[in-house]
Amino acid sequence: MTTKDVIWRGASKRFFLERAYALGYVALSTSGDEEKYLGRAIRRTLGKDPISNGRLLDIGCADARLTRAILTPFKHVTLYEPNPLLFSLATSNLEDCGKTIEARNREFPDPAPPDETFDVILASHMLYHVHRDQWAGYFRAAIKLLKRRGLLMLVLWNKHSEARAFAETIDPSRWVCCAEDLTDPSSAILKQVGLSITTIERTHPFIKVFSLEMAKVVTDFLLGHARRTRKSDQTRIAQFEKKLLVGGIGNSQSIIVLRRSGE
Ligand SMILES: C[S@@+](CC[C@H](N)C(=O)[O-])C[C@H]1O[C@@H](n2cnc3c(N)ncnc32)[C@H](O)[C@@H]1O
Repeated sequence: MTTKDVIWRGASKRFFLERAYALGYVALSTSGDEEKYLGRAIRRTLGKDPISNGRLLDIGCADARLTRAILTPFKHVTLYEPNPLLFSLATSNLEDCGKTIEARNREFPDPAPPDETFDVILASHMLYHVHRDQWAGYFRAAIKLLKRRGLLMLVLWNKHSEARAFAETIDPSRWVCCAEDLTDPSSAILKQVGLSITTIERTHPFIKVFSLEMAKVVTDFLLGHARRTRKSDQTRIAQFEKKLLVGGIGNSQSIIVLRRSGE
């Protein structure tokens, strides 16, 4: 494996850069079956238009568990992950994977972007950290790195009711989203940047945890502390923890596949 580490840019108060974020993300991802379902759905989508020895750019790869599940058609993988702990888990999870890995411990867009273009760019559950007003800028930066006819794959929540419930409950200092943002990128943005939706694949992972401690970590990660002061919020949080423990929660998602138009 060749790993080119790019220097960590340092201090920020944003939640996704914190150690608590990394621990919460890992607790959540190991409690659900997302990696399996999402990995399978992404592989199926990629299989419709087979690539071999391709180049993948994964933006916001976290611990790279999902990246690992979709590696087969790629020879070279570039990763962006700004959280230092998740970044180190990602590089160790991809050790010995047999691919060339370039891991960048920083945010995308990048003032010094890779000088190669990619067959596939994946941004899975990453746009919840980006304000909707900045989406067009992200897509523009991504499209510059896409080969002609290359694919940009976005993973977002798809069920409006779940998205709305999430958006209404979360701590807005952690996640930047509203229910509308969680479903589809608007076609106006896509037209502006020269991308067109080719397919939307649905997948239905489930999050269920097996101990109250884990339920608290996952709830804290998703909902945050901000609302714990009022009695009604405490009740809502306790209900959320119980739901995770007893029934589990649905987390239906869409994989939105966009193609760069040929020029
Ligand atoms: C919810 S996790 C998703 C991880 C993984 N892709 C998945 O689908 O399970 C989102 C990740 O995006 C990262 N992230 C947030 N803003 C970013 C940015 N501007 N550029 C790259 N990664 C970013 C966070 O640090 C976090 O690890």
